[in-house]
Amino acid sequence: MIVYADGGFREKDEAFYPLEERGVLFADGVYEVVRYDRGRPFEMDAHVRRLRASLAGIGLPWPGVEAAASLSDELVRRNGLPDARVYWQVTRSAAGGPGKRSFVHPEKPEPAITMIAYPAEPLDPAAPVEAGEAVIVEDVRWHRCGIKSLMLLPASMAKTEAKRRGAVEALFERAKPGAAGTHITEGSSTNAFAVIGGVLRTHPADGWVLAGVTRAVLLEAARSAALAVEERAFTRAELLAASEAFACSTTQVTALTSVEGTPIGGGKAGEVTRRLAAAYVRRVL
Ligand code: PDD
Repeated sequence: MIVYADGGFREKDEAFYPLEERGVLFADGVYEVVRYDRGRPFEMDAHVRRLRASLAGIGLPWPGVEAAASLSDELVRRNGLPDARVYWQVTRSAAGGPGKRSFVHPEKPEPAITMIAYPAEPLDPAAPVEAGEAVIVEDVRWHRCGIKSLMLLPASMAKTEAKRRGAVEALFERAKPGAAGTHITEGSSTNAFAVIGGVLRTHPADGWVLAGVTRAVLLEAARSAALAVEERAFTRAELLAASEAFACSTTQVTALTSVEGTPIGGGKAGEVTRRLAAAYVRRVL
């Protein structure tokens, strides 16, 4: 497997981080995951835009950020992978390496770019929508979830908890300052949608959730199909009474057939979910 690391393409076994790499010590970096199907990247511009915004959010300059797209394409080509998920990571380094462990950023930071292309199954347009159960956990993440940061410990713990309880996703719930009660924000690695009173709802992309690329594609598909759509947070009670719910990310749309043991929509993928999942597949292929 060829990866991109330390300024060049190399065999994965030959790529190493310095011991004091800030991505490891401080989770001081951001990332993206881009899907490739039949050799083509999906929504590349949106990923580059979001990477730029994440980098701005942590104050790490990468003036040549557009190069991420061509590095990624080249990586996929070198690995001969028509269907792939490419992980991009940009951490804060400095000329000559990150330097000794310090909470203070290096004076002249430089982005350290790493990319890994993981093979993926070809997308099958005839396959049924993925489905699974969800649990709800407290959203203990920081308040800047619009930044796709490497600080994934809460997400990883939440997903592990979901798996332990036989679920495919953990939905985060939090009390937001200034808002009454608690709301569902998003999944541990997905955006969450629900059909409530005939309206497709998802949390606004206001920094309490990641502005998912898939989320935007599905919202557009829903609006152009003239579905009633609202970017408005929903509560646990609204979700448990929803007629449909699903989670989405670059990897897939997943119907949530039950939440905390309560069946949603009769325990099957609903009509809106299936229509949007189909629209997504059409956009991708
Ligand atoms: N996760 N919300 C969170 C917290 C995420 O981590 C992700 C993506 C999304 C969906 O974003 P997008 O549609 O752009 O993939 C929402 C990626 C896939 C990951 O961490 O592997």
